Amino acid sequence: IKDFNTLHSEINKLRKEKNAIILAHYYQRPEIQDIADFVGDSFGLSQKAAQTDADVIVFCGVHFMAESAAILSPDKIVILPEPKAGCPMADMADVDSLRELKKKHPDATVVGYVNTTAAVKAECDICCTSANVLKVVNSISNNKIIYVPDKNMADYIAKMTDKTIIPWEGYCYTHDRLTKEEVLKAYEDYPHAKIVVHPECPREVVEVAHEVTGTSGMFKYIEKTDAKTYIIGTEEGLGHALRKQFPDKEFIFPSKNLICANMKANTLEKVYKSLLTLEPVITVDEEIRLKAKKALDRMLEVK
Ligand code: 13P
Ligand code: SF4
Repeated sequence: IKDFNTLHSEINKLRKEKNAIILAHYYQRPEIQDIADFVGDSFGLSQKAAQTDADVIVFCGVHFMAESAAILSPDKIVILPEPKAGCPMADMADVDSLRELKKKHPDATVVGYVNTTAAVKAECDICCTSANVLKVVNSISNNKIIYVPDKNMADYIAKMTDKTIIPWEGYCYTHDRLTKEEVLKAYEDYPHAKIVVHPECPREVVEVAHEVTGTSGMFKYIEKTDAKTYIIGTEEGLGHALRKQFPDKEFIFPSKNLICANMKANTLEKVYKSLLTLEPVITVDEEIRLKAKKALDRMLEVK
């Protein structure tokens, strides 16, 4: 189907027929965000996936997110419209190397960012997202933490807590390539703006920010501050959601590189096709699922 309106109405028809829910991350294309039942951050999406009574979850995000939905809701059909939409950072951590690291530090607690494969989550004690990372780390009595896979977030946690953090050398290519110069150039152009960046950004960027927080945290920060302009250090898809929520404010993305090609691999056409065929389905091996679920459940219980 090429025509946008027909595509919309077909998706709506199929969504009802199949009792499906469409979940979309903030980094998805605007037209996908607009048709989704729920748009959110990694944390909100995993909560929704755990609670929904739909039979089918169409997950417009990347592979690890759909996997988390399959881990939390094994009785549902979880679909990722573009099965090749992976997260390169999640793929930077593998089970064997993590086991090696755990052997070197047997007394450490392993905190796994949700941006990990199910198999890696199965090796972790607890998961976290950008929304709850500090809460999760502070909820652990152990002082020694292995944090996998984002080195920038590991650095941020080490700065914000009293814990000893053993990092992994992973990073998000979208956030890691944002430079301090780009942010400061935007600040020169908008000197009254607030700089808000994601903790996946490099340290030099984090250091010049007024606020460091995950995508959902950005909404909260903007809500409570009265600036008119914000310089945003995260994937540009968030701009669509921010402009919808705050039509009177202005959002500046300081680099043209703030695009995650993997997130953009899902299209409305693919959403339609996946609803029609109920494919491609994302499943997780049951033994891995049960172990990974423990780490995710532990995260969902942190208040
Ligand atoms: P959240 O801040 O929404 O958790 O997501 C960060 C991210 O990069 C997801 O891929
Ligand atoms: Fe992975 Fe970064 Fe893309 Fe998120 S934005 S899916 S962390 S590569």
